[in-house]
Amino acid sequence: MLPKFPKILVYGLLVGGSLALIPPVAFARMRATPSPNRPIHIFYDMDFQPKFKAQAPNPLFADGRAMRPIADGAVARGEAYADAHMDEGVVEGQWAVTLPAQMEMSTATLERGQQRFNIYCSACHGYAGFGDGAVNKRAMELVANAAGPVNGTQWVAAKSLHDETTRNQPMGQLFNTITHGIRNMAGYGAQIPTQDRWAIAAYVKALQLSQDAPSAK
Ligand code: HEC
Repeated sequence: MLPKFPKILVYGLLVGGSLALIPPVAFARMRATPSPNRPIHIFYDMDFQPKFKAQAPNPLFADGRAMRPIADGAVARGEAYADAHMDEGVVEGQWAVTLPAQMEMSTATLERGQQRFNIYCSACHGYAGFGDGAVNKRAMELVANAAGPVNGTQWVAAKSLHDETTRNQPMGQLFNTITHGIRNMAGYGAQIPTQDRWAIAAYVKALQLSQDAPSAK
């Protein structure tokens, strides 16, 4: 026979157990119901500050808008393209085939381009531009690992700059690729100053010529 529990204990446990459910249920309900009130913040930090949101009215200004119109002549960062040839590599709507007028095609320019190319591009494209740079080689090894790519490495092979398509690109187009990147390649507009990007483009053209010189005179 089961031992008999005192009735008061059994009812007490039932009532206590039911009451204990109320706080978690109330808490869950509060979490799930939207409320116009702010959540309780113990530390305010900088969460709440007096401010006007973008589309809100602001009585301070004559036109009553919080959002101010852009001042005349303002230029967004990175968009000060005054000279299409120099800044965009474009002349009359076509990719430029020459350096901008401010620069000179000289040994000094090409040497500068070579130096910058070796610093910024050779890691992937290789010193001679065949797409066989050290980083590229290593990444290809990681991807080709017999038991699957190491740490899930993904890699798009750096293009050979001597590919038919790239070899025939005008200097302005190369300049554009260096500035903005292309497909999986990142842009270098933020790291490499404009004239250095032109010097690199000129050097890439020289590299391409060096590997594709006609044998007949
Ligand atoms: C981190 C590796 C990496 C570096 C550094 C790098 N590239 Fe690339 N580059 C790539 C990859 C990858 C592609 C191919 C992208 C694709 O097809 O998605 C590519 C493509 C190109 C192309 C072909 C564009 C076309 O039209 O197909 C050119 C030109 C080029 N890179 C030039 C450069 C130059 C110049 C530099 C140095 C300023 C440079 N790259 C630095 C990885 C790199």
